[in-house]
Amino acid sequence: QGVARAGEALNGLLAEARAGQPIRMGAVEAGLGPILTAVREGGLARWLDTVWTHDDATYQHCLLVAGHAAQFSLHLGFRHEDQFRFVRAALIHDVGKARIPLEILNKPGRLTPDEMSVMRTHAAIGHEILVAGGERDPITLLAARHHHEMLDGSGYPDGLAEGQIGDIVRLLTICDIYAALTERRPYKPPMPMADAMAILSAMDGKLEARLVQSFGESLKAAG
Ligand SMILES: [Fe+2]
Ligand SMILES: [Fe+2]
Repeated sequence: QGVARAGEALNGLLAEARAGQPIRMGAVEAGLGPILTAVREGGLARWLDTVWTHDDATYQHCLLVAGHAAQFSLHLGFRHEDQFRFVRAALIHDVGKARIPLEILNKPGRLTPDEMSVMRTHAAIGHEILVAGGERDPITLLAARHHHEMLDGSGYPDGLAEGQIGDIVRLLTICDIYAALTERRPYKPPMPMADAMAILSAMDGKLEARLVQSFGESLKAAG
Protein backbone atom coordinates (compact mmCIF):
# COMPACT_ATOMS: atom_id res chain seq x y z
CA GLN A 1 0.00 0.00 0.00
CA GLY A 2 2.92 2.32 0.78
CA VAL A 3 4.34 1.53 -2.64
CA ALA A 4 1.00 2.31 -4.29
CA ARG A 5 0.65 5.68 -2.57
CA ALA A 6 4.25 6.71 -3.16
CA GLY A 7 4.01 5.46 -6.74
CA GLU A 8 0.93 7.57 -7.42
CA ALA A 9 2.71 10.66 -6.10
CA LEU A 10 5.75 9.90 -8.23
CA ASN A 11 3.74 9.19 -11.39
CA GLY A 12 1.88 12.47 -11.01
CA LEU A 13 5.14 14.36 -10.61
CA LEU A 14 6.80 12.71 -13.62
CA ALA A 15 3.72 13.26 -15.80
CA GLU A 16 3.59 16.95 -14.92
CA ALA A 17 7.32 17.36 -15.52
CA ARG A 18 7.05 15.51 -18.85
CA ALA A 19 4.18 17.74 -19.99
CA GLY A 20 6.03 20.89 -18.95
CA GLN A 21 3.33 21.69 -16.41
CA PRO A 22 4.10 23.10 -12.98
CA ILE A 23 4.87 20.28 -10.57
CA ARG A 24 2.74 19.87 -7.47
CA MET A 25 4.88 18.98 -4.49
CA GLY A 26 1.86 18.52 -2.22
CA ALA A 27 1.15 15.15 -3.78
CA VAL A 28 4.78 14.13 -3.26
CA GLU A 29 4.68 15.09 0.42
CA ALA A 30 1.72 12.76 0.87
CA GLY A 31 3.82 9.86 -0.44
CA LEU A 32 6.69 10.29 2.05
CA GLY A 33 5.00 9.05 5.22
CA PRO A 34 3.84 5.82 3.54
CA ILE A 35 7.42 5.09 2.35
CA LEU A 36 8.93 5.56 5.80
CA THR A 37 6.15 3.58 7.47
CA ALA A 38 6.38 0.73 4.95
CA VAL A 39 10.16 0.41 5.35
CA ARG A 40 10.09 0.78 9.14
CA GLU A 41 7.23 -1.64 9.73
CA GLY A 42 7.24 -3.96 6.73
CA GLY A 43 10.99 -3.97 6.23
CA LEU A 44 13.23 -2.94 3.36
CA ALA A 45 13.22 -6.41 1.75
CA ARG A 46 9.46 -6.35 1.31
CA TRP A 47 9.60 -2.84 -0.12
CA LEU A 48 12.25 -3.87 -2.64
CA ASP A 49 10.37 -7.05 -3.63
CA THR A 50 7.27 -5.03 -4.45
CA VAL A 51 9.08 -2.25 -6.28
CA TRP A 52 11.22 -4.64 -8.34
CA THR A 53 8.07 -5.98 -10.04
CA HIS A 54 7.44 -2.64 -11.81
CA ASP A 55 8.79 -2.57 -15.33
CA ASP A 56 9.03 1.19 -15.88
CA ALA A 57 12.72 1.88 -15.26
CA THR A 58 12.43 5.42 -13.85
CA TYR A 59 9.48 4.59 -11.64
CA GLN A 60 11.22 1.51 -10.23
CA HIS A 61 14.48 3.38 -9.74
CA CYS A 62 13.02 6.35 -7.84
CA LEU A 63 11.05 4.11 -5.48
CA LEU A 64 14.12 1.93 -4.88
CA VAL A 65 16.27 4.95 -4.04
CA ALA A 66 13.52 6.31 -1.78
CA GLY A 67 13.28 2.94 0.04
CA HIS A 68 17.05 2.81 0.55
CA ALA A 69 17.07 6.41 1.73
CA ALA A 70 14.31 5.58 4.23
CA GLN A 71 16.23 2.57 5.56
CA PHE A 72 19.53 4.51 5.69
CA SER A 73 17.98 7.46 7.56
CA LEU A 74 16.31 5.12 10.06
CA HIS A 75 19.61 3.28 10.55
CA LEU A 76 21.55 6.53 11.05
CA GLY A 77 18.98 7.68 13.61
CA PHE A 78 17.96 10.83 11.72
CA ARG A 79 15.40 13.03 13.40
CA HIS A 80 11.87 12.53 12.08
CA GLU A 81 11.95 15.76 10.10
CA ASP A 82 15.32 14.91 8.52
CA GLN A 83 14.05 11.44 7.51
CA PHE A 84 11.27 13.13 5.56
CA ARG A 85 13.61 15.60 3.91
CA PHE A 86 16.02 12.88 2.85
CA VAL A 87 13.31 10.57 1.47
CA ARG A 88 11.70 13.53 -0.30
CA ALA A 89 14.98 14.40 -2.02
CA ALA A 90 15.51 10.72 -2.90
CA LEU A 91 12.05 10.28 -4.39
CA ILE A 92 12.42 13.21 -6.78
CA HIS A 93 16.19 13.25 -7.41
CA ASP A 94 15.72 12.02 -11.01
CA VAL A 95 12.69 14.17 -11.91
CA GLY A 96 14.77 15.50 -14.83
CA LYS A 97 14.49 12.07 -16.48
CA ALA A 98 10.90 13.03 -17.29
CA ARG A 99 12.40 15.07 -20.16
CA ILE A 100 14.76 12.37 -21.45
CA PRO A 101 13.45 10.32 -24.41
CA LEU A 102 11.99 6.97 -23.33
CA GLU A 103 14.07 5.03 -25.85
CA ILE A 104 17.18 6.18 -23.98
CA LEU A 105 15.70 5.70 -20.49
CA ASN A 106 14.39 2.23 -21.19
CA LYS A 107 17.16 1.05 -23.51
CA PRO A 108 18.30 -2.44 -22.63
CA GLY A 109 22.05 -2.55 -22.08
CA ARG A 110 24.70 0.12 -22.56
CA LEU A 111 24.09 3.63 -23.88
CA THR A 112 26.20 5.03 -26.75
CA PRO A 113 28.35 8.07 -25.87
CA ASP A 114 25.78 10.36 -27.55
CA GLU A 115 22.91 8.79 -25.65
CA MET A 116 24.95 9.06 -22.47
CA SER A 117 25.45 12.79 -22.92
CA VAL A 118 21.69 13.23 -23.40
CA MET A 119 21.05 11.12 -20.30
CA ARG A 120 23.47 13.23 -18.27
CA THR A 121 21.44 16.39 -18.86
CA HIS A 122 18.78 15.03 -16.47
CA ALA A 123 20.54 16.40 -13.38
CA ALA A 124 20.54 20.05 -14.50
CA ILE A 125 17.06 19.66 -16.06
CA GLY A 126 15.68 18.22 -12.83
CA HIS A 127 17.06 21.17 -10.91
CA GLU A 128 15.44 23.58 -13.41
CA ILE A 129 12.07 21.81 -13.16
CA LEU A 130 12.16 22.12 -9.38
CA VAL A 131 13.18 25.78 -9.43
CA ALA A 132 10.42 26.52 -11.96
CA GLY A 133 7.97 24.71 -9.66
CA GLY A 134 8.89 27.02 -6.78
CA GLU A 135 10.86 24.40 -4.81
CA ARG A 136 12.73 26.03 -1.92
CA ASP A 137 14.20 23.14 0.07
CA PRO A 138 17.97 23.32 -0.49
CA ILE A 139 18.41 19.58 0.12
CA THR A 140 15.94 18.67 -2.61
CA LEU A 141 17.44 21.21 -5.04
CA LEU A 142 21.02 20.11 -4.38
CA ALA A 143 20.05 16.44 -4.57
CA ALA A 144 18.54 16.88 -8.04
CA ARG A 145 21.54 18.76 -9.41
CA HIS A 146 24.44 17.06 -7.66
CA HIS A 147 23.58 13.39 -7.13
CA HIS A 148 26.03 12.39 -9.89
CA GLU A 149 28.95 14.42 -8.52
CA MET A 150 31.92 12.42 -7.22
CA LEU A 151 34.34 13.40 -4.44
CA ASP A 152 37.32 13.23 -6.83
CA GLY A 153 35.71 15.78 -9.18
CA SER A 154 34.94 13.23 -11.91
CA GLY A 155 31.15 13.56 -11.71
CA TYR A 156 28.62 15.81 -13.46
CA PRO A 157 27.14 18.35 -14.20
CA ASP A 158 29.44 20.73 -12.27
CA GLY A 159 32.54 18.60 -11.59
CA LEU A 160 32.34 19.41 -7.88
CA ALA A 161 34.84 17.87 -5.48
CA GLU A 162 35.26 17.04 -1.79
CA GLY A 163 33.98 19.92 0.37
CA GLN A 164 31.63 21.19 -2.34
CA ILE A 165 29.39 18.13 -1.99
CA GLY A 166 27.20 18.11 1.11
CA ASP A 167 26.65 15.13 3.40
CA ILE A 168 23.06 14.46 2.37
CA VAL A 169 24.00 14.42 -1.30
CA ARG A 170 26.86 12.01 -0.51
CA LEU A 171 24.40 9.68 1.22
CA LEU A 172 21.94 9.95 -1.66
CA THR A 173 24.60 9.19 -4.27
CA ILE A 174 25.41 5.94 -2.46
CA CYS A 175 21.71 4.93 -2.34
CA ASP A 176 21.37 5.91 -6.01
CA ILE A 177 24.29 3.84 -7.30
CA TYR A 178 23.35 0.82 -5.19
CA ALA A 179 19.73 1.00 -6.40
CA ALA A 180 20.87 1.27 -10.02
CA LEU A 181 23.18 -1.74 -9.68
CA THR A 182 20.52 -3.91 -8.06
CA GLU A 183 17.55 -2.86 -10.23
CA ARG A 184 15.53 -5.67 -11.83
CA ARG A 185 15.16 -5.56 -15.58
CA PRO A 186 13.75 -8.35 -17.75
CA TYR A 187 16.91 -8.61 -19.88
CA LYS A 188 19.50 -9.20 -17.16
CA PRO A 189 19.97 -11.32 -14.05
CA PRO A 190 19.74 -9.40 -10.74
CA MET A 191 23.06 -8.44 -9.14
CA PRO A 192 23.54 -9.91 -5.65
CA MET A 193 23.83 -7.47 -2.74
CA ALA A 194 27.44 -8.48 -2.00
CA ASP A 195 28.55 -7.75 -5.58
CA ALA A 196 26.89 -4.34 -5.55
CA MET A 197 28.52 -3.51 -2.20
CA ALA A 198 31.91 -4.60 -3.60
CA ILE A 199 31.49 -2.16 -6.49
CA LEU A 200 30.58 0.68 -4.10
CA SER A 201 33.57 -0.14 -1.89
CA ALA A 202 35.88 -0.09 -4.92
CA MET A 203 34.74 3.48 -5.62
CA ASP A 204 36.89 4.77 -2.78
CA GLY A 205 37.95 8.31 -3.66
CA LYS A 206 34.66 8.93 -5.46
CA LEU A 207 32.36 8.00 -2.57
CA GLU A 208 33.07 8.51 1.12
CA ALA A 209 34.31 5.12 2.36
CA ARG A 210 32.94 5.67 5.86
CA LEU A 211 29.45 6.29 4.50
CA VAL A 212 29.63 3.31 2.12
CA GLN A 213 30.50 1.12 5.08
CA SER A 214 27.63 2.52 7.08
CA PHE A 215 25.27 1.96 4.13
CA GLY A 216 26.38 -1.70 4.07
CA GLU A 217 25.62 -1.95 7.78
CA SER A 218 22.22 -0.38 7.17
CA LEU A 219 21.45 -3.05 4.57
CA LYS A 220 22.56 -5.83 6.92
CA ALA A 221 20.47 -4.37 9.73
CA ALA A 222 17.47 -4.48 7.37
CA GLY A 223 18.05 -8.23 6.99
FE1 LIG B 1 20.30 10.55 -11.76
FE1 LIG C 1 19.08 8.06 -9.84
